[in-house]
Amino acid sequence: YPVEVIRNFSIIAHIDHGKSTLADRLLELTGTIAKKVSGKNEQVLDKLKVERDRGITVKAQTATMKHEHNGKRHLLNLIDTPGHVDFAWEVSRSLAACQGALLLVDASQGVQAQSISVFHIARDRGLTIIPVLNKIDLPAAQPELIAAQMQSTFGINPDDILPISAKTGKGVDAVLRAVVERIPSPPSTDIKSPLKAFLFDSLYDRYRGVISLISIQQGILRKGDKIQSCHTRKRYEVTEIGIMHPEEVPTNSLHPGQVGYIACNMKESSEAHIGDTLHRVGDAVEPMPGFKSSKAMVFAGVFPVNSNDFPKLEESIKRLTLTDRSVTVQGESSSALGQGSRLGFLGTLHMDVFRQRLEDEYDANIIITAPTVPYKVIYKDNKEAYISNPTEFPDASDPSSKVKEIQEPIVRASIIVPAEYFGEMMDLCFSHRAEELDHRYLDTGSDSSSSRIILKCVLPLSEIVMDFFDQLKSRSSGFASFDYEDAGYQRSDLSKMSFLLNGKPVDALALIVHKSAQENVGRAWVKKLHKVIPRQLFEVPIQAAIGKKVIARETLSAMRADVTAGLYGGHYERKMKHLENQKEGKKRMKRIGTVDLPQEAFFDILRK
Ligand code: GTP
Repeated sequence: YPVEVIRNFSIIAHIDHGKSTLADRLLELTGTIAKKVSGKNEQVLDKLKVERDRGITVKAQTATMKHEHNGKRHLLNLIDTPGHVDFAWEVSRSLAACQGALLLVDASQGVQAQSISVFHIARDRGLTIIPVLNKIDLPAAQPELIAAQMQSTFGINPDDILPISAKTGKGVDAVLRAVVERIPSPPSTDIKSPLKAFLFDSLYDRYRGVISLISIQQGILRKGDKIQSCHTRKRYEVTEIGIMHPEEVPTNSLHPGQVGYIACNMKESSEAHIGDTLHRVGDAVEPMPGFKSSKAMVFAGVFPVNSNDFPKLEESIKRLTLTDRSVTVQGESSSALGQGSRLGFLGTLHMDVFRQRLEDEYDANIIITAPTVPYKVIYKDNKEAYISNPTEFPDASDPSSKVKEIQEPIVRASIIVPAEYFGEMMDLCFSHRAEELDHRYLDTGSDSSSSRIILKCVLPLSEIVMDFFDQLKSRSSGFASFDYEDAGYQRSDLSKMSFLLNGKPVDALALIVHKSAQENVGRAWVKKLHKVIPRQLFEVPIQAAIGKKVIARETLSAMRADVTAGLYGGHYERKMKHLENQKEGKKRMKRIGTVDLPQEAFFDILRK
């Protein structure tokens, strides 16, 4: 396959606009996968169980299709990208291997927050964008209106838009044609040039170790070649090479412009640096400009429900991080919850997905503490430190403290919402410390009942981490869409809030709270604790404190002598995954100072 017949492209879209469905249709139409006879919609590219459960794509996956166009055989490389805000970084890295992108917009939903963010990533990378309007089979589809919206938002010519139904397959052949006709082939290079392979993703295989996905920029890569990483200078031998069709199909070599996989005795995915350039040992090549590495922005402690399970949990986390290098891991121990790990994630969805994978794939029974973002502490000597664990947060009010200032990460957020929910969204933003609010109508000239507004603001990441997304959805009846990007750090009035039982702080419950929210948060948590902590033989004060100052208090009255020991107040209406463990959990008492706490109480408190 000469480079002129190769097309490397991605499908980019807001979540649920039909990316995986379209990918499946393209694979079917090119005969890469068999056409499904049953009506079941089971996407081939979404491999992980959690992806199927949640209907979201988590890990970028790639497939090569062979396609004949005007009597000429073409090689089309589809690079699947994940579709959620937390994974913007993965979208960006997948796009580095492409020359074009299909911008998919749901004809009933219209342009959404992530349609805009992925459009910008693709445009900034100089990709050819093919606009596609999906779901035109839906009765609620408004193709003309949405096409006008795409014109006003992206400057797209409505004549270039392809209307399709990925579900029925209508119009999908035109998409295939546009891929060949509109997207340029990869830049051609002399095949005698020294090898340069761009590593854009990796997978982990239990048997073969790390599988790297690469695109060949120049030269030819063959099985048996000795290669070296520009980034780590480590050397490997290519033991297997091939294309994703859509599963791995071994070949003997990969040529310029091609996209494929290699196995090369890499043991850990941390060795596969995304954006790295691989070359042949002995050649001197200029590395490709790499792109920014992922940065964990949400941290939480993970503890086994049964402390004896810690070695097993640690092993499971280790295995799972082999396949997901963007999770960071550190040891953590808590007097209340025992030994655990402190994990860092790209965002809260990433955290949820990781938790679910631990539960599904490793049968782990775990408890996760409230998520925290990385705060920046600037000391009086101008040294800086990042702190993402509330227990390590300094008390700046203490006169002997060496802290000059505390900063928190902020993000620039866009919310797209039907005009009727605008007021609700403004309230939501204000109650989450948003600033620099700005808004405009997305569709100009349409009747006001269906018009939508894009609302932009700057707000602290910590506000998003807690409950922002859930509230956004519930307060807009599910209509609002949301996206955000990193906007650096900003000085903030934050303190550590400790919770004390009978005067002793409970480490696992410490929170970092903004001054404006201290009273509300303190009161709410103290009430919650009062509900779930069993009565003791003596009176127990439950307090929330900032430094030495108590800001909220409840008192748990003493148990009367005739009350059966072990009985405790509060009612439990939750479904625990393992009933057996639940029973054990009740038996397991944690002693905080003089207070006995069943582990169950912790679950109740930490469950949102
Ligand atoms: P993520 O992978 O999470 O980003 O989602 P996605 O964009 O891949 O969306 P997916 O392909 O999973 O489709 C979302 C839903 O829309 C599914 O229920 C599909 O069956 C449905 N869907 C996709 N295309 C069409 C279409 O053309 N018409 C109709 N009616 N439904 C569609």
